[in-house]
Amino acid sequence: MKRKEKKTYWRGIHSPFFFDLARHLEGGGRYVDVAYDQGLVKAIDQIESLRHSLRRSSDFIEVNDCGAGSRVFKGRFREVKKITRHVLQGKKVAFALLRVLIFWRTQGRSKKILEMGTSLGLTTAYLAASGWDVETWEGCQQTANYARKNWKALGCEDQIKSQVGTFKSLMDDSQGGWDVVFLDGHHDRDATLAYVECLKTKLNPGGAILVDDIDWSKGMKGAWDKLLDDPHWNATMTWRGKGWLFNRVGEIEQHLKLRKSYISLSKFNKMKLFTIVFAAITLLMSTQVQAQGTKNQINTKSNAESSTSTAGASKIFGEMLVFELNGKTVVKVSFDPIMDRMGSDKVALASSQQIAKFNFQSIGQALNVLSSHGWMVEHVWTTMERSGAEQHFIISHEVSKLSPASPWLNKNKNKGTKG
Ligand SMILES: C[S@@+](CC[C@H](N)C(=O)[O-])C[C@H]1O[C@@H](n2cnc3c(N)ncnc32)[C@H](O)[C@@H]1O
Repeated sequence: MKRKEKKTYWRGIHSPFFFDLARHLEGGGRYVDVAYDQGLVKAIDQIESLRHSLRRSSDFIEVNDCGAGSRVFKGRFREVKKITRHVLQGKKVAFALLRVLIFWRTQGRSKKILEMGTSLGLTTAYLAASGWDVETWEGCQQTANYARKNWKALGCEDQIKSQVGTFKSLMDDSQGGWDVVFLDGHHDRDATLAYVECLKTKLNPGGAILVDDIDWSKGMKGAWDKLLDDPHWNATMTWRGKGWLFNRVGEIEQHLKLRKSYISLSKFNKMKLFTIVFAAITLLMSTQVQAQGTKNQINTKSNAESSTSTAGASKIFGEMLVFELNGKTVVKVSFDPIMDRMGSDKVALASSQQIAKFNFQSIGQALNVLSSHGWMVEHVWTTMERSGAEQHFIISHEVSKLSPASPWLNKNKNKGTKG
């Protein structure tokens, strides 16, 4: 009988080992212990630009399919753009794996990973960016050649050991010694079970296997059920249609089903930005309140909404977010509508509305335009999300006059009217 799997979000996991694994797979940028240096950010950008151009490529590859067949392709000649869209791991999965590998590497000695199923080599390039020793196997010579061309373009060909042959023949000839094996090809029940059985003796102690597409077919579902029943794999975790298998000494037996993050990353980022902008506005307002405290009583009105401050230069704030989408830089400048209620500089307000609507072509264009309208950058920080690097800017504009906006007073007023 199939062993029971427990559904969980990454935050609800007790085992430190699985908690660390799950938070690197599913947690937002602030929850991972990975230092993103410029080299890494650049490597990811390059892989994603290449993915972008392969999705539009007119190339064909004559494929020798050694796997379980395809639901997308009929003949031997396959379009590179279709392979890129339908066969490869997406950016989110590849990036999540990269984070896990970097985290595990920082915890110990140098590590070795085997990818079974190279295809165009984009996921391989992600694995190589982790600093692990990467070996990858591919049954189709033309496909392997194409992948090698891609690694050359990315400058990572020297970090990857690529072998061509059937999984079975390469496995028979191999000594093993891997810490992780990513089984991403030949999604057939019996073949999967046979590879996993053989890998038991070829993995390093404590090593893991990640089996892709465990829900792809009835056969693959059956294979996963069988693997769950094997007492050798005392710790397992399914994640985004894949299954992790571990044989861990000292780990209590557990079988987890990891749910996707319950706060989407875009929502998480918006929340984070909101918190920062809110803090900035609160700080600003407390300064204004202090300034009012020193003012002449005759000028001070009892309604905080209508009192204004002219003491010194005040600032209004906006946000700018920069990220890559399908190889293009996207710049989003936004201003909270609360700014309009602060009675600030009419010219600054008018320009902010135009700026927020405009589609900037580059970060340089946005910064220059903002600067020409008197907007300055206050803070910059980068977060690494599963979709890639995102740069956040807090921008400000000096104004001579500012009315405190007190949304809580309005709310009370509304409640009173209704009630
Ligand atoms: C799903 S793709 C790999 C995708 C790749 N890991 C990525 O995410 O970029 C599977 C690849 O495995 C290869 N393959 C499938 N069965 C194989 C077998 N029995 N022996 C060798 N290669 C095989 C296929 O030719 C195909 O290129």
